[in-house]
Amino acid sequence: MDFPNLKKQDPEIYKLVKKEEEKQQYKLSMIPSENFSSPAVREALSSVFVHKYAEGYPHKRYYEGNQFVDNLEELCQQRARQAFSLPDDWHVNVQPLAGGNSNLAVYNGLLEPGDTILSMYLPDGGHLSHGWSFPEKDEQGLEGQVEQAIYLGGKRKISIVSKIFKVVQYKVEPDSRLFDYKKIMAIAKEYRPKMIISGGTAYPREINYDALHSIAKEVGAYYLADIAHEAGLVAAGANKSPIGKADVITFTTHKTIRGPRGAVILCRGDLADRIDFGVFPGLQGGPFEHTIASLAVCLKEACTPAFKKYAFQVVKNAQRLAQRFIERGYDVVSGGTDKHLLLIDMRSKKLSGRNPAKALDQAGIIMNRNSVPNETGSPMNPSGLRMGTPTITTRGMKEKEMDKIAEWVDYVIKVVAPDCDLKPAEFEEKIKKMPELRKIAAEVKSLCQKYPLNI
Ligand SMILES: Cc1ncc(COP(=O)(O)O)c(C=O)c1O
Repeated sequence: MDFPNLKKQDPEIYKLVKKEEEKQQYKLSMIPSENFSSPAVREALSSVFVHKYAEGYPHKRYYEGNQFVDNLEELCQQRARQAFSLPDDWHVNVQPLAGGNSNLAVYNGLLEPGDTILSMYLPDGGHLSHGWSFPEKDEQGLEGQVEQAIYLGGKRKISIVSKIFKVVQYKVEPDSRLFDYKKIMAIAKEYRPKMIISGGTAYPREINYDALHSIAKEVGAYYLADIAHEAGLVAAGANKSPIGKADVITFTTHKTIRGPRGAVILCRGDLADRIDFGVFPGLQGGPFEHTIASLAVCLKEACTPAFKKYAFQVVKNAQRLAQRFIERGYDVVSGGTDKHLLLIDMRSKKLSGRNPAKALDQAGIIMNRNSVPNETGSPMNPSGLRMGTPTITTRGMKEKEMDKIAEWVDYVIKVVAPDCDLKPAEFEEKIKKMPELRKIAAEVKSLCQKYPLNI
């Protein structure tokens, strides 16, 4: 994209935009929560809708001058219905500013302070916006017991969700690193949550929505399915849909679904007023109408056969990568993936996640360090490497390229393994000078040139 006005008026910002553009163009960006949106999605994002204030909902605004905003928001809602094959008696809210906000808005609409939430344990791949507090050592021992199947929360409340609500978390099984839904049922019966949440940032398998629906029904809880990561896969049919199983569904719009940064809430029609009130005036002020314009473009794209093909390829690519890592002796958490992401427990190679991720970045491959089930590391140096295929599939890469990427990643890890015990600063100095990493970065760049980013 050209930015002639920005270039002239603010060269400092222009230069940073161009540097970021170059990085995205010539490195492999494999953060599973990122994607590359289309030029049309980005054009709508920078449209004059950015100038608007439109507190309220279509035809119920607090300011005049919103006739086109009303048309836009209704069109966006309609496209969300189409993209997710929403039943007529379900409702759509396209105003949440981000995924975290969408979850807060749901709690705000349906819960009271002090209510109990049952969500996935954060170090096993859950999300901060589902509540998180830290276990802290005190004189008596470990506060916030981390037991085999359950975490009852610690004293250091990290997420505001844990400050307002009582948060109980279910864990994956230590060996399979999958959920045991019978255990989740037992926890739900004991703690009687008002809301049960599924979804997370690093769980590579599909969720059993039927099982969670039954558990929620059994204990009289709302069931919130947060499909932030897999929304695009669900829209395309590459992953199962929680519609009809969950009472409320939230998703971010910038991950697999390939839109602007934002979020959507889908809910049962009888909850519509409470959910809408939970968003505005309960949590947010004016919606970002430029984001809603851009989201509407993204949702139209999500209904195309090309998007469907894309989403299925995202999964195939992730499965191929997982297979190649397993063949090379890596511990791929849960033995594979059903989605767009995979997680490697680097302890199988006597390493942690931090330094390998730094070295891979130096070699032009961006992925992130991540906690893994049965974590023994720290938040800054957890034991896992998390990677995803949304952006590289958007570029058009397929299984053959996945084979090459797995080979490069393995090579980089082997090259730097002997130095991985160095302190972070020393390690980072050392890898800057490694010719092997420079060579891989050049090879990565030439692959990226074959599959250019549409900017
Ligand atoms: C499962 C889940 N929910 C919510 C969020 C929060 O989204 P946002 O960063 O837009 O607040 C994320 C972000 O990665 C997520 O993975």
